[in-house]
Order: sequence, then structure tokens, then C-alpha cells
Amino acid sequence: MLKGVVPEDLLAAVPSSFDIIGSRQGALAIVELPDELEPYKLEIADAVRRLNKNIKAVLRRRGARSGPYRLYNYEVLIEGPTEVVHREHGYLIKVDPTKVYFSPRDQSDRAELADMAQDGERILYLFAGVGPYAVAIAKRRKVRWIYAVELNPWGFKYMVENVKMNKLTSVVPVKADVADFCSAFAARADRVLMTLPLGAKDYLDLVLRCVEDGGYLHFYYTGPEEDPFGEAEELVRSLCGGCAVVSRKIVRDYAPHVYKIRIDVRVRRT
Ligand SMILES: C[S@@+](CC[C@H](N)C(=O)[O-])C[C@H]1O[C@@H](n2cnc3c(N)ncnc32)[C@H](O)[C@@H]1O
Repeated sequence: MLKGVVPEDLLAAVPSSFDIIGSRQGALAIVELPDELEPYKLEIADAVRRLNKNIKAVLRRRGARSGPYRLYNYEVLIEGPTEVVHREHGYLIKVDPTKVYFSPRDQSDRAELADMAQDGERILYLFAGVGPYAVAIAKRRKVRWIYAVELNPWGFKYMVENVKMNKLTSVVPVKADVADFCSAFAARADRVLMTLPLGAKDYLDLVLRCVEDGGYLHFYYTGPEEDPFGEAEELVRSLCGGCAVVSRKIVRDYAPHVYKIRIDVRVRRT
């Protein structure tokens, strides 16, 4: 698609994939371009926009995610609305990725979690962003409740809208710091999701106390390609001798030679 836009000797540097977030109602594309393509960025953005008539805005990702809300900095290549309604697996997610974390690349992980959850469960979804895992689970299972906890006010706002838009009655969005929420949480959950790969470990001890004996913890972390799960498993083992890792998953690439991973843990109180 970029032949004639980018010189042949630079074509290899053009990313083969980019994210499109949105739906027929409007979408935005997020591209990552190396510095050597700086002179061609507007032509590339235009070529990307022409690929899909729903794309109204094209953003260029700059640097890594940062800050407590785990956001990228973006350079606007084609200006347009950045608030979109994303469609995946039969549900809708309203989000502005310039204000709150969202990744369409996690959709198959969400589908796996929705498969694992069971009717009747009490679920804590920590670090919930705009709530996509809660929506995926509650659309598929008749759970008792899902408390979805997020610090970023924009995440909370969109989560409230997403619960309404998907007509969910079992999801309770909570705007709070996970540390405060878990300290005050008097009940126990059958399943807990900790979707903050960089940082969740600081909350692990506190969160483990919120899991029912025999319940499950889904712990997200990062790990090097030579041993993706070792450190995450060690962390859990050091805090919970009776816990057993029942499955492991490489969710996707995180950085060169580093994966985002998930371990699924059966929690036993000894
Ligand atoms: C990696 S994102 C995941 C968001 C969401 N689960 C998803 O998959 O789209 C982690 C989220 O945790 C939130 N966060 C970070 N620290 C937090 C804390 N102490 N309490 C509550 N939320 C927090 C961030 O604002 C961010 O939205």
C-alpha cells in the first residue's frame, strides 16, 4: 500500500501492522513510525486513512506508555475525533485512547477470560480502564457481580457509559485506587483480574486477601522471552505458599524480547 509513497529502501522499516480502534460509526488509526520515515509521515498517514473509509483520524505513537494511567503520547498526523465506539466480539467499547488505556490487541485474551468465568461468580476486575474485560465477561456469563476498579476519571466515565451501552446490570464501576478499594473490601471474590502488568506486583499481597479460598487470580506481568513466567510465578509463590499456577499464557509482545504474560492461579489459604 505504501509503494510510491515511501522509497523502496525504506519500505522494510514501515510497520506491517497498526491499530484501528472504532467501528463503522468512526475509527482512528494508531501508527508507529521509525524516525527515518519522518519526511513521509503525512503521506503514510494518508495512505493508512484511505485503507478504511471509517478512519477519520490518524495518530502516531511516540515513546512508551507512561504515568499512572499508562498512556502513550501521540502526534496527530490527521486530525479528527479521537473518541470512538469500538466493536469487538459482539459488544461495544466507547473510548478515547488519548485519555485512557485501551488496546484492541487484547481482545482474544478478553474472550479467554470470558470463557473461564462461570455463571454466579463474584468478580473483582482491578485496573479496569474503560472496563473491556468486565463487558466481555458480563456479556457472556450471568455473574453475580463484577466490581471494576479504575483510578483515571476518564476511564471511570467511559466505563459507566460502556455498562449502559451494553445493557449490563451486573457490572459496578468504581472510581478508586486499588489499594484503598482492596483495603476496605469486606467480601471475597471467586475470581480477581489484575490487569496492570507493570505495577500489579505492588498490590499482590493486599489483593490475595480479597480472593475466596479456592478462587482464581489472573495476574498480568511482563517477562523476558527466555523465561516469560518465572518471575511472576516466584512473586505469587513468595506471598502464597498454597497457591498453584494452573495455566500460563503469553498475551502478546510487550517490547523487544519481552512479553506481556498472564498466569492463572488457584488460590488456597493454608
Ligand atoms: C494496563 S491498563 C488496563 C486497563 C484495562 N484493564 C484494559 O485492559 O483496557 C491499567 C489501568 O490501571 C489504572 N490504574 C493504575 N494504577 C491504579 C490504581 N492504583 N488503582 C486503580 N487503577 C489504577 C490505569 O489508569 C489504567 O487504566
